[in-house]
Amino acid sequence: MIKVLVTGGKGQLAQCIQSISNDYPSLDFVFLGSNDLDISNINEVEDYFSKNNFDYCINCAAYTAVDKAEEEQELAKKVNITGAKNLAITCKNKDVVLIHISTDFVFDGTAKLPYTEEDTTNPISVYGQTKREGELEITSKLPQYFIIRTSWLYSEFAGNFVKTMLRLSKEKEELSVVDDQTGCPTYAKDLAAVILKIINSQSKKFGIYHYSNQGQITWYDFAKEIFKQSKANINLYKTDSNTFKTLATRPKYSVLNTSKIHSLLNLEPIQWEKSLDKCLKAITFDQNS
Ligand SMILES: NC(=O)c1ccc[n+]([C@@H]2O[C@H](COP(=O)([O-])OP(=O)(O)OC[C@H]3O[C@@H](n4cnc5c(N)ncnc54)[C@H](OP(=O)(O)O)[C@@H]3O)[C@@H](O)[C@H]2O)c1
Repeated sequence: MIKVLVTGGKGQLAQCIQSISNDYPSLDFVFLGSNDLDISNINEVEDYFSKNNFDYCINCAAYTAVDKAEEEQELAKKVNITGAKNLAITCKNKDVVLIHISTDFVFDGTAKLPYTEEDTTNPISVYGQTKREGELEITSKLPQYFIIRTSWLYSEFAGNFVKTMLRLSKEKEELSVVDDQTGCPTYAKDLAAVILKIINSQSKKFGIYHYSNQGQITWYDFAKEIFKQSKANINLYKTDSNTFKTLATRPKYSVLNTSKIHSLLNLEPIQWEKSLDKCLKAITFDQNS
């Protein structure tokens, strides 16, 4: 059996991993929530790793509140930088492969073509900055790592854009959504499957990889398709980032070039509309069961 620790075990991505874990009988999982293991506390991390052996650690723990991070800089740093550093040090000492999740927000969004793993990072928010510094803690300390940058995660679990749009469509008659930020949504269950495929393959091609679903859309396009597929009765309008102000600045363009991970794992690209359909069906199933 391959022993796998999942940190941040109650978050969206970790719950997606848990939901497909039965499809991977050769993997033996332990999921730890923030109450069980605080990755920002080196004593807790070292103590836990000294008593338990793992082959892989999937770090799903993160400070993910992009706007709040502008005001809670120290907390965001503690989780996203110190937490990543603690896991890097401990995984190195215990010969554990670390699979760490990062974000399209490490880029400034001035590109015109999808970002490759070699493109220069230049985060424009506290969240993006802390995630980039977390990456650097890992790449500078640990030889055996996979850092997977992803974008616009959603699923039937936890809070996310799809679930917010579904809720708003029941509460409101009209809604405006920004049409000047372009990216690609990613069904967190598709990302979960990619992570588990990496482990199953026992690949030694360590490094940084980009993964998202396929396509290039704005948040407005995404909302439009969510309402279309869910047959929601709401009037949708376009707005822009100057009108819809948020504490954190977001990249105008953050599409990721995913060819490196597709060739590593021989993956078929999954069109974003198709994954949205799968997620909406899972949400409907959960509501009816
Ligand atoms: N969501 C997105 O749109 C998106 C986009 C690109 C990349 N990502 C990255 O994808 C990864 C997974 O995101 P997600 O959507 O699954 O996030 P999430 O639902 O917010 O889950 C993050 C989890 O981390 C836990 N956590 C926070 N501080 C911790 C600590 N000190 N020790 C241990 N656990 C801690 C949280 O637990 P508590 O709730 O108990 O604090 C939470 O359960 C993150 O690295 C994120 O940066 C996300």
